[in-house]
Parts: sequence; structure tokens; C-alpha cells
Amino acid sequence: MSSHGTPVPMSSTRCGPLKGRADVPGDKSISHRSLILGAMAVGETRITGLLEGEDVLDTAKAMRAFGAEVTDHGGAEWSVHGVGVGGFAEPDQVIDCGNSGTGVRLIMGAMATTPIAATFTGDASLNGRPMARVTDPLALFGAVAVGRTGGRLPMTIVGAKEPVPVRYVTPVPSAQVKSAVLLAGLNAPGQTVVIEKEATRDHTERMLQGFGAELSVEDTDEGRVITLTGQPELRPQVITVPRDPSSAAFPVCAALITEGSDVLVPNIGLNPTRAGLFETLRDMGADLSYENERIEGGEPMADLRARYSPDMKGIEVPPERAASMIDEYPVLSVVAANAVGPTVMRGVKELRVKESDRIEAMATGLRANGVEVEDGPDWWIVQGRGMGRVQGGAECASHLDHRIAMSFLVLGMSTVQPVHVDDAGPIATSFPIFEPLMARLGARIERTATE
Ligand code: S3P
Repeated sequence: MSSHGTPVPMSSTRCGPLKGRADVPGDKSISHRSLILGAMAVGETRITGLLEGEDVLDTAKAMRAFGAEVTDHGGAEWSVHGVGVGGFAEPDQVIDCGNSGTGVRLIMGAMATTPIAATFTGDASLNGRPMARVTDPLALFGAVAVGRTGGRLPMTIVGAKEPVPVRYVTPVPSAQVKSAVLLAGLNAPGQTVVIEKEATRDHTERMLQGFGAELSVEDTDEGRVITLTGQPELRPQVITVPRDPSSAAFPVCAALITEGSDVLVPNIGLNPTRAGLFETLRDMGADLSYENERIEGGEPMADLRARYSPDMKGIEVPPERAASMIDEYPVLSVVAANAVGPTVMRGVKELRVKESDRIEAMATGLRANGVEVEDGPDWWIVQGRGMGRVQGGAECASHLDHRIAMSFLVLGMSTVQPVHVDDAGPIATSFPIFEPLMARLGARIERTATE
């Protein structure tokens, strides 16, 4: 099933060169945060280039339910009239976050220190994902969470009446957990401190500073220590959302494995907490260059140029790079299947609790298409068959996971036989223009009839 309707089966067939320019949509992480921080500021935040995928649209709806005025001006221009820190109203309906772990976890944090109650739900994928990683630290502020067994959604959070500030060491490398604690800390008096042993994407920290919060970051022996002073008045911002490096990964990887390709993916944010995939691809021997490198809105940016790279080699991906490419392992495994020799990926336990168990989903689909994969609790190894030498021909289950669906469609661009995906509907959560964008480059992705 797709997240919101009937399954959308698709197949992908080996194609001629991919050529041209791929204008991928806005960054999903920054889009969620723009809406949520906009709703917590006093006055009107203007956003250009918002990702209009289902995940972010669900967050926009949720912000309206908490009392913010959220307006779609067309052409990816949005505005949010915020209600201020601590100003959220109690929603009179259940908040449905669809497929989005980022949406639900950040919103839970944002409301947990305001004395209101809210009930959250999502689709089958989201309702199976662990929430205790967020509700445990929110309880330290004084919030109460009641959900299903195992800390699953649907779940009600009753916000703390008299929140206290928190010092919290995140037990897993997760920007969602870190962000939930920081957003909760906004409405607690005094200083809330979050310590992460491994750096994860830092958009929340950068954006909170942009919105005028007092926030400092220090690298210490204990880890990255983030200190936020509570109860600031957040000032509305004018935000231009950069294009999403995690979406750019798909046309980039497709170009690397499709004979004769030369694709330009302009204006991609290369924040070091997000750019791990591109370094890894270059380590594998990919012909991937950064053109027009620059700093925009405080973030490093470049135009990515990817050309067919028939001689890539498998590598051991440095585990310390995992957080900076956590969403990109599925599509990396597709490139790895086309490289020579094994690609070893370790320290990636978190892949098992994403929109799907991504190691299991990719390993099963790759094996069905003729690739050898070994896996364990926090590692997997893909045995590369060499460029264009994967057989294909099998159907792969997307498990309500957009990145699994897109990865298998990219795989089909290089395989001897077409690759089929049972349901590509979830792609709409993060990359609603994937199909036309890939078609314009020259890909052969077709919708197949449902029985
Ligand atoms: C995100 C954090 C990551 C990532 C997700 C987006 C964010 O999740 O996988 O797609 O915007 O904070 P975790 O926090 O679970 O690592």
C-alpha cells in the first residue's frame, strides 16, 4: 500500500545516457524545521523553496492545528504566522503525521513543554517506529506520554505545566531526538543541554540561532555539547530552503551507473553533516565533481556534476561517516552492486528503524535481483558484480519507504532485466517530482498495471 492510497507499482528498465539538469526539490529536514520554528516565532516567517512533499504538508497541517496561520502562496512560497514559544493551542483533532518520523518527533518536542494535550498517529510504517527515544527525554521536562506497547503511535502527549530544563546525552545518533529535546527546551526556563557523541545533522542548531535563540555548541571530550537558553522570543525569518542532498543522491547515483551519462544537479547544500555520500562515492572512484562551490545563507553549496563511472570499486565506508549519510545507504548499496568488489557498511544499526528496516529491505531486493549481500545487526556487505552486470528481473517491496522505492528504480537503470517495485507511492513523501524529473533525464520508469 502507498502511504495514503492504493499501491503504485512501477518498473525501471536499462536506458540510454541520462543527460541534462536535475532540479531536485527543497530539503526535507529544513522544510519541517522552517514550518515548526516559524510557528514558534512571533510574527510572519516567509519560506521560499519549501518541499511540498506529503511529509512536510502533514507538518504544515499540524502547525495549523496548534494555532499557527500557515499559508501556501503557490510556487513553493509559504508563510507562517507564528504564535510564539509556549503559544501553541490544544489541537481538537488527532495529529496525523503520515509517514514522517521527523515531523512527529519534532512536533512532540515542540509541544511537550506547553500545558496542552495532543494525540499523534501516522501510517503503518510510522506507527511501527520507536518513539521512546523521544518520549524518554521529554518526560525529564515533565511531559507525560501514553502510547501503545513498545512506545508506539498512536500516542498522546500531555505537555509539562511547569517544565524544568534538561541535560541529556542522546543514546543514539539521531538529529530527531536532539531536535525534539532542543525544541522542548525552548519553553523551559534556564539552560537545556544536549550532548551527542557523534555529530548529526545540525539544521536545528543553525536555524535556532537564525531565529534569535541563544544557543552555543562546543566540541568536548564528552561529545558535541549544545546549550540552549530557554524562553527566548523567536524572531520571524525569511528562509530560502536549499535543495535536498538526500534527493540529489538519486539522480547522481543513477548517472554514475547509466552508460554515457552526464547530469548536473544544481544548488545542493553540502553541509558536512549531510554530505557523506558524495565523499564515499568519490572514494569509490566516481566521476563526481563540485562546480561553482560557494557559501549561501551560511551553508556550503555547490552544483554537483555526475558522469558515468564504469570503474568504481567497493570500499569499507568509514563508520564515523554514517550519521552524515544515514539516509543514503540504500542508494549507495545500488552503486555498490555495480562496483567491483565488496562494499562494507558498519555502524549502521539506525538503518533498521527508519521508514522500514532498510538493511533488510535492500538486502532482500538486491538478492532477488542477483546480488550477494551479507548482513548483521549493525552491518552489511554488498558484493559488487561490476558495472551493468546485475541481472535484475525481480519484484522488490518498498515497505512504505520512499528511499527503498527510489533506490530499486535506480537499480533498474543498470540491470540486464527490468526491476519492478510493488509500490512507488511513498516517493511522494519526499520527492514528488521524481518520476518526471528522471524521465526528462532519459530514464525509463513506467507505471505498471495493478492486478
Ligand atoms: C532527520 C534525521 C534523521 C534522518 C531523517 C531526517 C531530521 O533521522 O534519517 O530522514 O530531519 O532530523 P534520525 O534522527 O532518526 O537519525
